[in-house]
Amino acid sequence: MSNDSQNILYSPNLSGIAKYISDSAKNIIVMVGAGISVSAGIPDFRTPGTGLYSKLESYNLPYPEAIFSLDFFRNNPEPFYTLAKEIYPGLHCPTPTHYFLKLLQDKNKLLRVYTQNIDSLESIAGLDKSKIIAAHGNFDTASCIDTGEIVNPEEVRKNILLGKEGWSKMNAKYGGLVKPDIVFFGENLPKKFFDNINDDFSKCDLLIVMGTSLKVNPFASLIDNVSDTTPRLLINREKVGQYSDDILSNIVGLRGFDFDNPNTLDIALLKDCDDGVKQLANKLGWLSQLEKLVYKGRVTFNINNSIPKKTYLQYILDQLSDTPIDYIILINKIKDIWSEDNEFDETYVIKSIIRGIKEHRIEQIIVKTEKNKYKGHQYKLI
Ligand SMILES: NC(=O)c1ccc[n+]([C@@H]2O[C@H](COP(=O)([O-])OP(=O)(O)OC[C@H]3O[C@@H](n4cnc5c(N)ncnc54)[C@H](O)[C@@H]3O)[C@@H](O)[C@H]2O)c1
Repeated sequence: MSNDSQNILYSPNLSGIAKYISDSAKNIIVMVGAGISVSAGIPDFRTPGTGLYSKLESYNLPYPEAIFSLDFFRNNPEPFYTLAKEIYPGLHCPTPTHYFLKLLQDKNKLLRVYTQNIDSLESIAGLDKSKIIAAHGNFDTASCIDTGEIVNPEEVRKNILLGKEGWSKMNAKYGGLVKPDIVFFGENLPKKFFDNINDDFSKCDLLIVMGTSLKVNPFASLIDNVSDTTPRLLINREKVGQYSDDILSNIVGLRGFDFDNPNTLDIALLKDCDDGVKQLANKLGWLSQLEKLVYKGRVTFNINNSIPKKTYLQYILDQLSDTPIDYIILINKIKDIWSEDNEFDETYVIKSIIRGIKEHRIEQIIVKTEKNKYKGHQYKLI
């Protein structure tokens, strides 16, 4: 990057990026990898000790990438199916980083998210399908690797979660192994990826890269597809994508990030993505909106997965009872969720609020709700 950063960024740091987002950026592309799902409980690939690559020794793989190799899968499908069972969408809740993407979408700043992840957490966080390019596929569709027959993804999910008995049954039924349409090494990336990159990257006015080692091509090389005047922000535990350090990349003409040039438009924020996006959201004045999305997402996830509706308020109170909490904030949080949920038992909510208030010896509270009969009522408690 040879441009004078001061012409574009007010300052070559996170504050400069925040100001740039507020003032001008409206076609932001975010490129993400496994690191953004680590706090959801899904291990990444390459982090030593916790990454899948170090855990996969137990499968006796000839090399770690074999788990995503079609030839290896044909002969030994068990490692892939075991991994798939662990990371199947629905078992994990999106992270604050995923909700930050949703916030960018809500603010009309997001052009597209290019994700290498196969966990579908972007769409679970509420991103429109049109905003997501799942470069390495995901579990939304599935097919038989021998006949090409399309198989109902719900049937595939149930059988993979059943373990060996389940996937062997599908093998017999479809005359070949059935796999979710996750891109294996050597397979083509989805058409949607190639159809969109030229147009998207020519429009991009800010590139944010998060939670990826940028080791897998062609995905990794996309960081070079933006114009020289486009700022690029990396939020990652370590610096990545500095291709000028790499002889092979130099030969094929990859430039990569250049964080050390004083005039650079490349900014590196070296920390966990969740902390990084919170810091950025704070500078943008969006932190409370981000926290609200995270909170609602967690409650919804818990309801959908294990917590019955009736005990849902109890669940919220339990979660918060150990921490000093402003009860007005608590009530507002409940109100937000409650007013969108017609099936919710209002009497139960009010009783629980009153009980919660009593337990915490709060004297008076106004339950402000817009849509229900308790609007404007005051509950005076002694
Ligand atoms: N969640 C998933 O869907 C998932 C999980 C594992 C692997 N994969 C697949 O494996 C490939 C792996 O490549 P990759 O680059 O995405 O992953 P990777 O494991 O190669 O790299 C992850 C990067 O994220 C960083 N990181 C880890 N946790 C972080 C955190 N909390 N905050 C900030 N940074 C963090 C690491 O330091 C590393 O640089 C992808 O192609 C993907 O399809 C997907």
